Amino acid sequence: MAVARKVIPDSFKQDLLNRVDIVDVISRYVQLKKGGANFLGLCPFHNEKTPSFTVSPAKQFYHCFGCGVHGNAVGFLMAYSTLGYIDAVKELAASVGMQVPDERPPTPEQAARKERETDLYGLMDKAMDFYRGELKKSPRAIAYLKGRGLTGEIAARFRIGYAPDDWQGLKGAFAQYEDAALVEAGLVIQNEGKRYDRFRDRVMFPIFNVRGAVIGFGGRVIGEGEPKYLNSPETPLFEKGRELYGLLHARDAIRTAGHVLVVEGYMDVVALAQHEVGNAVATLGTATTPVHVGKLLRTADEIVFCFDGDAAGRKAAWRALEVSLPLAPDHKPIRFLCLPDGEDPDTYVRKHGKEGWQRKLREAETLSQFLLSQLRAECDLETPEGRARFVSVAKPHVQKITAPQLRLQIANAVAELARLPQGAGIPSLLELPARDRRFSRPPPARTSYAAPRSPEYRLLYSLLLDLSLAEHVDDDLLLRNLPESGAVIAVRDACREFETEPSVGLLVDRLQGGPWLDLILGAHKYGEELAFEPEEASYEFQQALVNLDLARRKRELDHLREGGLRSKEERIAFQEKNLDRKKIEDGLRLQAPVAGTSKPLSGQL
Ligand code: UTP
Ligand code: MN
Repeated sequence: MAVARKVIPDSFKQDLLNRVDIVDVISRYVQLKKGGANFLGLCPFHNEKTPSFTVSPAKQFYHCFGCGVHGNAVGFLMAYSTLGYIDAVKELAASVGMQVPDERPPTPEQAARKERETDLYGLMDKAMDFYRGELKKSPRAIAYLKGRGLTGEIAARFRIGYAPDDWQGLKGAFAQYEDAALVEAGLVIQNEGKRYDRFRDRVMFPIFNVRGAVIGFGGRVIGEGEPKYLNSPETPLFEKGRELYGLLHARDAIRTAGHVLVVEGYMDVVALAQHEVGNAVATLGTATTPVHVGKLLRTADEIVFCFDGDAAGRKAAWRALEVSLPLAPDHKPIRFLCLPDGEDPDTYVRKHGKEGWQRKLREAETLSQFLLSQLRAECDLETPEGRARFVSVAKPHVQKITAPQLRLQIANAVAELARLPQGAGIPSLLELPARDRRFSRPPPARTSYAAPRSPEYRLLYSLLLDLSLAEHVDDDLLLRNLPESGAVIAVRDACREFETEPSVGLLVDRLQGGPWLDLILGAHKYGEELAFEPEEASYEFQQALVNLDLARRKRELDHLREGGLRSKEERIAFQEKNLDRKKIEDGLRLQAPVAGTSKPLSGQL
């Protein structure tokens, strides 16, 4: 079970957090200045001109007063580099020369594989350096790139290189050309006893992962030739359907622009960057996968898919839409831009410049517009038959949407286009489930964190994950004599008093020196380690409330029972309360988290 707490022992995390200084960690990415007890800088998570991003060495916390982001060193790395929890801990550990111990010692095969991977990264890096060196020596390759409008600066930024026209060119980089690892890395091909370079006479685009390691290459022929692009094969380092070309370089620009552009080709990413549109990434000659969309949604607040104006581009756009439907959240728009016939982002931006590109971008359709316009094109909405067909072709797509508000909006739009009267029972016509029990992603292994904690503690840590829930705290549900209850109420009360949006950083400030701070910091850390998505945190909070309500009812029942249930009225009251409790318990068992939870919390109880 891949739950963070299991994989990384607590004692190790404690050591790590003692060893790491958040100021060091963050200053690797953000320029910080000392200001009083804290450090101050420009927030890397939103666009600002005056610094409101603070880092507290005493609390080992960062907090932005502009956009409210906050967290500890692990949280920073997760947010900044879009690493998962475990990878962020590993990264942090590596930065101070510690190694995350495995609970189970690795099997010999695992150890061998690990060592192999480390070797492979090294090989890829060396190959990249070699190709870059070769580019400097090849006037023909340089002329090709110049001819495509690229400056040396951009070529250097993307570490573009050139694989020489030589069957064993890599001998220039690797003394041990016979090394089997070169084959495993996909750099060398072994065929009938012969060995030769996979990439020959090609312009080389290294593919980086978000940690900055080279995991693959794409090589383009110079001029005409087949195949136009040759890519690294799937290797232990490289899995095409999971990677996005250019993500490493686009990260900052994505933050500034507020959205990520997803294009089809290497050259599209590079040409856009050449024109100061730095927030583009490309899928690697594969269709958009759910892994791509998930990664993009973690990186950006908005996704704009840009597809070439050809048949393949239109097909790819539809495919991206289908993959996006179950993943699209209510709060992050996904849009689609289809370029004019025969254009791709590279040709378009070269012809029309940055301004022209940005004008074009405004034409991007929203997910719903794109979906509906494509479906409409298949149906004649002027006839009853056409409208009937429209509802039936729309149905499976609307059903796939999991974000409740988005689904409702699109269902309504379908109804309107089909001229269904209001109140025609649209959800049932579209056979939409009344309550969505599906996950928008595979559920985390929930069972494994069942810690022996009170529901009050559960309420506390889930509240700390999403302080906007504070208003839903109900004193009457909390057992008075528990410290957790005191902490929950202190958090709720503090949140009421803040003039700006509450944040854990602010809370820590406010509750400094009080009796609850340690408990709160512990619960916050506990909650963060569960690595919930935001909607899962609010689900967790709701569940805690329901559990507390159940516990209260149980106390009332026990109280009644202890009284002996002498009168008939007492017995009836007991039975009714007991029935109520059973109903809630059943409801609890049926319920599963809903992506982008939208139900009013009070309606739960
Ligand atoms: P395109 O054919 O649209 O190429 O393929 P492009 O990006 O416009 O290339 P230029 O401008 O002619 O240089 C889009 C992407 O599909 C993958 C590559 O990732 C390419 O960037 N592809 C394409 C391949 O993997 N192999 C191919 O032979 C062609
Ligand atoms: Mn192109």
